[in-house]
Amino acid sequence: MTGRVVVTGAAGKLGRAVVADLIDAGWDVLGVDRVRSEAAEAGVPWVVTDLTDYGQVLEVIGGFVDESGPRAVAVVHLAAVPAPGLVPNSATFANNAPATWNVFNAARALGVKRVVWASSETVLGLPFDVPPPYAPVDEEYRPRPESTYSLVKALEEEMADHLCRWDPELTMVGLRFSNVMEVADYAAFGSFDADPSLRKWNLWGYIDARDGAQAVRLALGYDRPGREVFIIANADTVMSRSSASLMAEVFPGVEVRGSLGKNETLLSIDKARRLLGYVPAHSWRDQI
Ligand SMILES: NC(=O)c1ccc[n+]([C@@H]2O[C@H](COP(=O)([O-])OP(=O)(O)OC[C@H]3O[C@@H](n4cnc5c(N)ncnc54)[C@H](O)[C@@H]3O)[C@@H](O)[C@H]2O)c1
Repeated sequence: MTGRVVVTGAAGKLGRAVVADLIDAGWDVLGVDRVRSEAAEAGVPWVVTDLTDYGQVLEVIGGFVDESGPRAVAVVHLAAVPAPGLVPNSATFANNAPATWNVFNAARALGVKRVVWASSETVLGLPFDVPPPYAPVDEEYRPRPESTYSLVKALEEEMADHLCRWDPELTMVGLRFSNVMEVADYAAFGSFDADPSLRKWNLWGYIDARDGAQAVRLALGYDRPGREVFIIANADTVMSRSSASLMAEVFPGVEVRGSLGKNETLLSIDKARRLLGYVPAHSWRDQI
């Protein structure tokens, strides 16, 4: 599948990798963000947009920006305040919830049948002050948001579910990204080993931005109608110690399911492997 894809949050950490990946794959990318980025300066089609304004969202997805742009065939929605605690909770809600409603609803209004958006690992119950129900965690239990940021992600998943029920031709794929990393971030990884509690909050997971972009590209090719969510993490943890020993020390009462590879991710990517063909290509271990 190719054609015009609108990528929101295109200037962000994940968005920059997604824009580069989709252009490489032959998509006609329109970058949308509150700010411009290097890609915009380099000539990637770009519209500075406030996604909390529904009229603007209709225009960028519909191709009405300069009266000549193509209408999008797909939307990748990544724009958000990307974590709890960056701004007051009310500001996180007031930005993220309307922006997502506007994107989802404009896509529906314009007949766009393919929507991929950034959900988050946080809906799995991060920071796991309440231990996970089992490990590796997967998509099989109800979202457990523990912050306003995560609550909005859970609401978005619920909203997508109903929008797909209303339109049986609509495909909406929510990617529950782990903590996004660029190569420069890997320099800090060696320091995590000393204290297993440092990264316990997300079960020692991470996602290389390039593998996150791979998942977005694959999700755009997923054509089964309905809403689907996938955990997207790398295949290993951020730690040198084994995943089994981390679970035994930090979450001794939690059932560990299946046989774990030494550094195997505790954020299960089996569903993404199975249904999307996702195969992470990067590991911090190859970079430092
Ligand atoms: N960074 C992580 O570790 C992480 C983990 C899981 C999920 N996510 C999710 O992935 C997505 C991308 O995260 P990121 O790390 O690239 O964040 P980022 O902050 O680097 O990028 C987000 C971009 O969205 C834009 N944006 C926010 N609100 C907007 C609005 N109202 N209108 C227009 N643009 C707006 C910002 O300008 C920014 O460029 C987010 O939805 C985030 O919640 C991130």
